[in-house]
Amino acid sequence: MNDIINVALPKGRLGEKVYDMFEAAGFPCPSIKEDSRKLIFESEGAGVRYFWVKPSDVAIYVERGAADIGVAGRDILLEYEPDVYELLDLETGKCRMCVAGKRDFRDNPGKTLKVATKFSNIAADYYGRQSRDIDIIKLSGSIEIAPILGLSDVIVDIVETGTTLKENDLVVLDTIVDISARLISNKVSFKFKNRSIEKISRALRDVVQDMQKQR
Ligand code: PRP
Repeated sequence: MNDIINVALPKGRLGEKVYDMFEAAGFPCPSIKEDSRKLIFESEGAGVRYFWVKPSDVAIYVERGAADIGVAGRDILLEYEPDVYELLDLETGKCRMCVAGKRDFRDNPGKTLKVATKFSNIAADYYGRQSRDIDIIKLSGSIEIAPILGLSDVIVDIVETGTTLKENDLVVLDTIVDISARLISNKVSFKFKNRSIEKISRALRDVVQDMQKQR
């Protein structure tokens, strides 16, 4: 018997790229490309049901078993440490988690450093390893504004092309970790739907290898 595998995809540009990888791996669901506000798409023939969720929520769906597998950025996995299996690096959605600040920023170790970020655990871990005393200012977006307005000394945020930093006159001060999209699995599903999940994972691994050969 073939299981239907529930797949949580990150809504947005990365999700579209990732869906194309699933399609290339042999799990197509053409209706997903139709312009609609629908969020759930089933392809019985391919044995998959896709749903679009907010990128930062993918890991929650997978951890709690609402999705069997999903695709989440390494940033989310490091920040929230969900209890899931990480099956594969999809080598896409590549970016870096960085410390950034104004060009003339000079750290004064005698003062608590004000750090604005969406990623408080990653920031706390990074500065904790340096025994640096920090005050985390948790924001949910437009982080780059914080040092410009004096809300923080630095930011910890994702840098992809570097355009946002450049256009706001900020520079990378340090790279914390490289990020890419990862295929993750619910632990119970991995046990009970193992053949189907392994099949998808193996096929995606081949797609990743083909992509790398073409680069
Ligand atoms: C992310 C990140 C940066 C930007 C980096 O923001 O927080 O602001 O992308 O990309 P770049 O280096 O290519 O300019 P996102 O678009 O997710 O919006 P946000 O403001 O909600 O974080």
